[in-house]
Amino acid sequence: MKDNVVTVEFIAIAENERFARMVAAAFVVPFDPTVEEITEIKTAVSEAVSNSVIHAYNSSGEGTIKLEMRSTEKGTITIIVEDYGIGIDDIEAARAPMFTTSALEERSGMGFTIMESFTDKLIVESEKEKGTRVTLVKMLDISCGL
Ligand SMILES: Nc1ncnc2c1ncn2[C@@H]1O[C@H](COP(=O)(O)OP(=O)(O)OP(=O)(O)O)[C@@H](O)[C@H]1O
Ligand SMILES: [Mg+2]
Repeated sequence: MKDNVVTVEFIAIAENERFARMVAAAFVVPFDPTVEEITEIKTAVSEAVSNSVIHAYNSSGEGTIKLEMRSTEKGTITIIVEDYGIGIDDIEAARAPMFTTSALEERSGMGFTIMESFTDKLIVESEKEKGTRVTLVKMLDISCGL
């Protein structure tokens, strides 16, 4: 299988969280992933996209999110979720379990922790008032399909 790259851009509304997770799942299908791997990828993408919708653009529905997916023939999947919103003050603090800047009870501050545990590598880059780029790297176990 050749290396692949797919990029989609969509407006930052909650409905597109579902779209993004479906697209990410569809992207990895050629690798014959396990149900667990698909679930982990979908969940990690959901968390990243919902953060952009809720935090980056303050749930305004304004702004866009870019989802870039890359794969290598060895089954390394790299998914980048990028927004152009408010940015993160302190990335290290934001990544800590239970850290949230939201007063809403439904926010538990576990998004980054979930992304980290469901992937092999999580990179968070951000600049105030410029935006945030979250890179999720997942090594699929393609040996079982051979
Ligand atoms: N794309 C983003 N733009 C701006 N701030 C962000 C972004 N992503 C995360 N943050 C900040 O990092 C904090 C931690 O994010 P995390 O996803 O771990 O928790 P949460 O979104 O607050 O709660 P939960 O994900 O459990 O609903 C957020 O409260 C927010 O302040
Ligand atoms: Mg979150």
